Amino acid sequence: MTLPQVSGRNIALTGFMAVGKSVVGQRLARRLKRRFVDLDRVIEKLEGMKVREIFERKGEDYFRTIESRALQATLAHEGQVIATGGGAIMGEENLRLLKERSLLVCLTAPVRVLLERAGKGNKRPFLKAQDPERAMADLLKRRQPNYAQADVSIDTSFLGVDEVVDEIIKAIENKS
Ligand code: S3P
Repeated sequence: MTLPQVSGRNIALTGFMAVGKSVVGQRLARRLKRRFVDLDRVIEKLEGMKVREIFERKGEDYFRTIESRALQATLAHEGQVIATGGGAIMGEENLRLLKERSLLVCLTAPVRVLLERAGKGNKRPFLKAQDPERAMADLLKRRQPNYAQADVSIDTSFLGVDEVVDEIIKAIENKS
């Protein structure tokens, strides 16, 4: 199988929580024979705590500081597939760096689908609201302008993981 010509450019995945960035990223990295980096896991390693615990014990601002640091360190390397946390693109400098040092791919799905994928008893700090559907819709609306700045956007509503990976590979081929 010939792999698409992606040169050494990173491929970074963004999009709302539970859209499937980590699972798609892993699969894409395997297909392209690239290193896979999950930014939330990098943060957890740095802090020795789960993301949920960082939010609970140290707060969101602290998390965002570590997230930016982890992103910068990760983007110092090339040729990777990177899954970013859903809020990483909200930092102006994060978004600038992502666009400069990667092909930025946004995975999308409507709130109804995201809630289904998030499932019950999920550990994400932002889905602990009394009305998760409303909270999600509000947050998604606020983040939309930043997600819209990705180089490629893929609606994953009706796609399985491998189909999403196929779409990303097609997009890469079109861009090279
Ligand atoms: C967040 C998304 C999470 C994680 C943290 C904050 C967000 O990652 O980084 O809970 O602000 O949307 P996923 O998008 O992988 O769930």
